[in-house]
Amino acid sequence: MKFFIDTANLAQIKEAQDLGVLDGVTTNPSLMAKEGISGQANVIEHYKTICEIVDGDVSAEVIATDFEGMVKEGEALAALHPQIVVKIPMIKDGIKAIKYFSDKGIKTNCTLIFSSGQALLAAKAGATYVSPFIGRLDDISTDGLRLIEDIRLIFDNYTYDTQILAASVRHTMHLLQCAEIGADVMTGPLSVILGLLKHPLTDSGLAQFLADHAKSNA
Ligand code: E4P
Repeated sequence: MKFFIDTANLAQIKEAQDLGVLDGVTTNPSLMAKEGISGQANVIEHYKTICEIVDGDVSAEVIATDFEGMVKEGEALAALHPQIVVKIPMIKDGIKAIKYFSDKGIKTNCTLIFSSGQALLAAKAGATYVSPFIGRLDDISTDGLRLIEDIRLIFDNYTYDTQILAASVRHTMHLLQCAEIGADVMTGPLSVILGLLKHPLTDSGLAQFLADHAKSNA
């Protein structure tokens, strides 16, 4: 399973990269705004900096919602760095843009997926990734993990290369359940990845080992 970090915060991206388990980064306009990154030139510089920190794919989202606008923006983003994946919303013109980029060999991430039908459509258009938002479905009393299961079943019935990128992952159990279902990728905050480290028996066991070592070496 690939681990992506869902942030535009450079310190957190570096921390995840230093841990040695990071496979990529996803961003969105809200995450960029949260870091105070505004203006096209600054946004572009920020994407370049992220690409220099990590080795894997970096999703950069288009703002345009019409086909021509998405193509223009997406081509400019893709030209920034070979690691850039053009992130495109799940709308009609977005599907056309995904097909366009797929034909040109440019990687895409279809975002804001909330149904298996949307995922199937994006896969047919040639999306590299589909991003079902599981946390946001849970927020409205709908089972987000069930959506991952449904998409996994559909993709496994055929030969789509499209990867399921479980997005809007809110906690470590989401990550583990996505791994059990077979999501190809998960993206979430750093805390979700660091949550995998935690177990009280590890902490107490290590404390005991160190105490015994100290006693016998006093
Ligand atoms: C995915 O690419 C999105 O950036 C993200 O996962 C959305 O998560 P949220 O619902 O926590 O905002």
